[in-house]
Amino acid sequence: MTDDLRKFLDTLKEKGKLRMVNGADWDLEIGTINELMAERQGPALVFDNIKDYPQGFRVATNLMHHRVGQKLAFGFPDEMTDLECVADWKDKWNKFQPVPPVVVEEGPIKENILKGDDIDIYKFPTPKWHTHDGGRYIGTGIITITKDPDEGWVNFGTYRVMIQDKTTLAFYASPGKHATIMREKYWAMGKPCPVAMCFGQDMLLFSISTIGLPWGMSEYDMAGYIKGKGVEVVIDEETGLPIPATAEIVACGFSPPPEEDSRPEGPFGEWQGYYASGTRNEPVVHIKTLYHRNDPILFGQPPVKPPVNTWFPIPIHTATFLWNRLEKAGMMDIKGVYVHGPGNRVIAVISLKQRYLGHAKQVATLAGAFLQGGACTGRYIITVDEDIDPSNLEEVLWAVCTRCDPEHYINIVPGFLTSPLDPMLNPEKRARKDYTTSKVFINACRPYHWKDKFPPVNVAGPELRQKVLTKWVDLFKDV
Ligand SMILES: Cc1cc2nc3c(=O)[nH]c(=O)nc-3n(C[C@H](O)[C@H](O)[C@H](O)COP(=O)(O)O)c2cc1C
Repeated sequence: MTDDLRKFLDTLKEKGKLRMVNGADWDLEIGTINELMAERQGPALVFDNIKDYPQGFRVATNLMHHRVGQKLAFGFPDEMTDLECVADWKDKWNKFQPVPPVVVEEGPIKENILKGDDIDIYKFPTPKWHTHDGGRYIGTGIITITKDPDEGWVNFGTYRVMIQDKTTLAFYASPGKHATIMREKYWAMGKPCPVAMCFGQDMLLFSISTIGLPWGMSEYDMAGYIKGKGVEVVIDEETGLPIPATAEIVACGFSPPPEEDSRPEGPFGEWQGYYASGTRNEPVVHIKTLYHRNDPILFGQPPVKPPVNTWFPIPIHTATFLWNRLEKAGMMDIKGVYVHGPGNRVIAVISLKQRYLGHAKQVATLAGAFLQGGACTGRYIITVDEDIDPSNLEEVLWAVCTRCDPEHYINIVPGFLTSPLDPMLNPEKRARKDYTTSKVFINACRPYHWKDKFPPVNVAGPELRQKVLTKWVDLFKDV
């Protein structure tokens, strides 16, 4: 695990997973190179000597779409399987003890501090990522820091940010997100909401920023717990917000109530693979202080059309959460939980040992209720027996094809919360802000009441396999 973006990039380089690119254009070229490289599961990219910008003002992309990057960010050993990573994170989560950030006076982020007329967010080579984006999105690999005005705890979350002018940024945080709730609290008091936005930082902070921690649990405390030491922060004088001392670029300022100022945000190429949410007015932040390190690195994490996944290949953010909530709700004998599909949040698979009639249905129904809120999130909920690895989609499909009679074991239930980013909201629903769609529950477990009569699986038993492998060791050596 590394403490800042630069050390993270150095480690990727040592592992042969990083490539430098010189002379690319911020206007669609960086975005397209990133897309083509992500499609090929290629290395991380650091762009320098970007058109119109001085050497040293860099953009880093493609850092987390492969397991090497994600395991490095989360501190998982290389040899851990995907399902073991999910189980490990679940275990850590359950033992969580807050480790608060440590305030320091100095840090690399204070190398350049700009105020007043010196503030110009165009100083950084923000790409226009996708062809139909409505502008330049500086916030794609971002953490946005806010403090609850009543309870005083500090949140950070990843919400996209579009440049409006040299001192103004629009940010899209969907309904129910913690920054959305906090900013509304300030506005209800007639006050602007203090906000700090980091556009490049320690990758663990970014990773945790995208995980839905419960209300009241600070991402800083979680990051400190995972690291085993408090995250070093400096305090921004005007907003009073703690910002990571090793961040690359941070904009601090205030978000006024939308009646006072809000600007058109979007379209943006979104993670479902469409420009679904179009253009709407969204809240803004007026920058009061702009910090950056010498030779700053802007971190970009723009979505790319599925099945390419530019975010975490291992679904820590969805599967761990779901598995925990099912167990806390008293569901027994859950053997594994995994979430597949765009953003690793659409097709949830729960493997369980069926203990009683209706067990699988009960688990699936709860899973459908727990996994919702983002666009398309938890649209398909599949339950499988304990012999199926939920992280192996082909194995899951085998179970769906052979242990599920659609007439009896597939249910479609309407009315679950999705979000404006869902491409399946028809124009009428969108106009009346009805952000709901249905979910599909597929029970691909052997039918409970005759599971003992279900045909046996055609595979050699573990003892026979081991015996044969031991005897024929040379035959299987390089296979
Ligand atoms: C790369 C990436 C981009 C994201 N962009 C947004 C976004 O623009 N708006 C949003 O509401 N959530 C977005 N999310 C999801 C949130 O970051 C996630 O729900 C997080 O838990 C929000 O933090 P909170 O729980 O503290 O509100 C994004 C997630 C990732 C991985």
